[in-house]
Amino acid sequence: MIKMTDLYMLLLLNSVATPSVTGCVGSLCARWGSSHGGQESGSYKRSHVPNWRHALAGLLAGTGAVLAYGLHSQAERAATTMVQPIDPPTSMPIFTQDDVTKHRSIEEGVWVTYKGSVYDITEFVSMHPGGDKILLAAGGALEPFWALYAVHSQEHVLEILSEYKVGELSAEDRRKQQTVKSSDPYSTDPVRHPALHVNSLKPFNAEPPAEILSDNYITPSAIFFKRNHLPVPQVDPKAYQLHVEGLPGAEPLVLSLEELKTRFPKHTVTATLQCAGNRRSEMNKVKPVKGLNWGIAAISNATWSGAKLKDVLLAAGYRPELAQQACHVQFEGLDRDATGTTYGASIPLHKAVSDEGDVLLAYEMNGEDLPADHGYPVRVVVPGTVGARNVKWLGKIIVSEEESSSHWQQNDYKGFSPATDWDTVDFKSAPAIQELPIQSAITQPAEGATLDRRAEEVTVKGYAWSGGGREVVRVDVSLDGGQTWKVAQLQGGEKPQPGRAWAWKLWELTAPLPPATQELEIVCKAVDNSYNMQPDTVAPIWNLRGVLSNAWHRVKVTIREDEEE
Ligand code: MTE
Repeated sequence: MIKMTDLYMLLLLNSVATPSVTGCVGSLCARWGSSHGGQESGSYKRSHVPNWRHALAGLLAGTGAVLAYGLHSQAERAATTMVQPIDPPTSMPIFTQDDVTKHRSIEEGVWVTYKGSVYDITEFVSMHPGGDKILLAAGGALEPFWALYAVHSQEHVLEILSEYKVGELSAEDRRKQQTVKSSDPYSTDPVRHPALHVNSLKPFNAEPPAEILSDNYITPSAIFFKRNHLPVPQVDPKAYQLHVEGLPGAEPLVLSLEELKTRFPKHTVTATLQCAGNRRSEMNKVKPVKGLNWGIAAISNATWSGAKLKDVLLAAGYRPELAQQACHVQFEGLDRDATGTTYGASIPLHKAVSDEGDVLLAYEMNGEDLPADHGYPVRVVVPGTVGARNVKWLGKIIVSEEESSSHWQQNDYKGFSPATDWDTVDFKSAPAIQELPIQSAITQPAEGATLDRRAEEVTVKGYAWSGGGREVVRVDVSLDGGQTWKVAQLQGGEKPQPGRAWAWKLWELTAPLPPATQELEIVCKAVDNSYNMQPDTVAPIWNLRGVLSNAWHRVKVTIREDEEE
């Protein structure tokens, strides 16, 4: 069955069969005409404008359940590989990414790109009030949304799509501005999807819109949350070297990317990454904390492929007896600050060398090379462990007696009592965060949403995850602030092996709207297989860095009564 929100995404993908684009095309064509000395604004017209309703009807009739909702990694990969690029025409206006990015509203026009072509979907969006999700793709690439809401019959969709092109993306933007030279260390950072909610531009930190986070078990890489402390380093894959050091009696091992890929078996793990600061904004409301004001989406789920860290350590000379001397495995990134200091972190040795620990030196994310923002060409993926230890752009691995001396291991990413303030804090007194506690949050409906009484029921969706490979076994949902509870349905993902539940569980609950109330306080809380549960309020777990924020998640919504009935 296709639900309303799904239908909007279906339409987003299919209904670019949108009539009339004249308003904003005109203005941009004028600019294109003058700056490129080419076609004039009035001279570009679509040759054929089919009725979008017919197109959609045909699509639905022809393909049955067109929307394959909630696809998992395999289907998602299939979807992305099935998509064929549309042949670039020769006589269409050329737009820059900036031109496209300016079109993110009904007033300015709603534009999207797909495989280097530019489409205008303004009219469709304005005819569908409430199709908020469509606007999330506005100004950016359709690809990650295509992956989220993968459809069958893509050739048919593409045929329709191709008739509604308004132009091409400039060659420069196609090359993703990689050649830009500037003294700004962030000038070579990759282009990002405008749907991301940006917490800081330099360094780049952003999270996906919460309301789409739980729409797919696998988060498309383009909208996977991004947490960078420094500029994204430019790494030449041919020159890349991974150094492995610190093993007594053994020469340091140096591996090229090719060697990492060919000398060691490739393993694939589906694992959720969560930043220690996820949901910090809720702590900020209790009392200000230092740090980026993350909402509930500094968490995402991907498939990661690469060599097992354990296999590489064995090749470098690791022997089990060494566990008597060494306790930690340190990682150094290739990203540097102005003093040349690199990002670094460490994990306990036993996690690194345990076969069941599943620690990867990943070179693929969701079936493709790691994107620049996520650590190209190689990152560590430490399933079940706080995001901060999953070091990106990995340059060096050091087996050692000591933890990493990095700032981020020693003086950050640690938890403290609510009584500790910046005058009294002693970072040495607290352990570095490794495994994260149980977590869950509501992604739909959004805070402040209005529900229609006529719908008679409400569907609540969200995610739940626990650190250390502990499996989420239950999510409880309340519509009355925690007085009464219902058990949500857990969805998706294969049954994990005991102790190796690395991926989140998405969940959903549909319940009747309670009568005689116009306000609901929706609450969720998860339970893992150690029966760890979330604390009910934020204040008792408040800490000065705003980490480990995992209280029951609460969302307030109102019910709109139908006055005529
Ligand atoms: N690795 C390097 N080299 N540099 C970084 O800034 N950030 C860390 C970790 N690895 C970071 C890093 C933090 S704090 C987090 S939460 C995760 O990467 C985020 O990974 P993502 O950007 O792939 O989501």
